[in-house]
Amino acid sequence: MTETPLLSVRNLVLGVVRRGRPSTIIVDDVTFDVAQGELFGIVGESGSGKSLTLRAIAGLLPGGVEIISGSVEYKGRNFTSMTSGERRALMGPEIAMIFQDPMTALNPVVRVGEQIAEGPRRHLGLSKKDAMDLAISMMAKTGIPDPIRRAKAYPHELSGGLRQRIMIAMALSCRPKILLCDEPTTALDVTLQHQVLGLLEEMCANFGTALIFVTHDLAVVNETCKKVAVMYAGRIVESGPVRSVLRDPRHPYTKGLLDSAPDFDHPDRMLKSIPGFPPNLANRSVGCSFAPRCEFAQPECVASSPQLEEVGPDRLSACFEKFTIFEGAHA
Ligand SMILES: Nc1ncnc2c1ncn2[C@@H]1O[C@H](COP(=O)(O)OP(=O)(O)OP(=O)(O)O)[C@@H](O)[C@H]1O
Ligand SMILES: [Mg+2]
Repeated sequence: MTETPLLSVRNLVLGVVRRGRPSTIIVDDVTFDVAQGELFGIVGESGSGKSLTLRAIAGLLPGGVEIISGSVEYKGRNFTSMTSGERRALMGPEIAMIFQDPMTALNPVVRVGEQIAEGPRRHLGLSKKDAMDLAISMMAKTGIPDPIRRAKAYPHELSGGLRQRIMIAMALSCRPKILLCDEPTTALDVTLQHQVLGLLEEMCANFGTALIFVTHDLAVVNETCKKVAVMYAGRIVESGPVRSVLRDPRHPYTKGLLDSAPDFDHPDRMLKSIPGFPPNLANRSVGCSFAPRCEFAQPECVASSPQLEEVGPDRLSACFEKFTIFEGAHA
């Protein structure tokens, strides 16, 4: 018998709703499971629907974007049929989120220590003092030097790297079962990015927290995640274990992403960008959304849209061509 996944996203469709009617479908039929403690990446170009998928899971969709159909189940309970109060009670102790820009998520007029302590006070019922002690120990765990002094700082008094650590301390302070990360290191320099990724991985392992990590950067997925879903134009076009997907991509879009990313093991390799642009989601064609940019496209790719099919152990790809290995696939 297989274990019930911690989180199960089933046939999720998100759309822009105008005057009560869906006008544009922006996330289409997205399905994936995340098990306890699993490190799951979602990768794709700008506009592919990564952030909105994550926000739908967190119940933080922006105004005008709604779940049209499908479900998000957490421990077998359907989010979409919960009241907003039930939903809010899960945020913090069960599910936490880290955003790309900590300044948008931190309150500029509250000292950072108090901001971290607020969750444990509210959700774990800790006293003010115990919550502050926990906040300071979380700050220390994220490697913030002199946490007692820094806890009294306001967000603008800290560097970008320290603010991102505060966000991590805040998100993990109630030991959530799932941490949703939306490009949490994109604004940091490479050294800091490396440190923060290592920290996230270590803390998730210590707390048994599952991670859903959204990024446009395959190198970051490679460093941080064990499983990956590749999104293009609102759909998952390929998924599977990270090592196997990156070594042996089965979808031409994944191959395009790999060919356009620097390869430090083979610095002489020519980088190749994917020609063209992502499609306008308001005018979806009946065929594969990637066909107009795909060097392998056949007439059938324009006539109908390929569905995700099994292409190997734990591997799915939505492509009519059943590639086994692309020439020049990354080792
Ligand atoms: N509030 C909104 N109203 C209408 N359309 C939106 C809204 N937010 C996002 N979109 C559209 O939905 C699509 C997916 O957006 P999303 O933010 O999920 O992309 P993304 O993959 O996270 O991209 P990026 O890498 O740039 O962050 C985009 O085409 C975007 O223009
Ligand atoms: Mg985004």
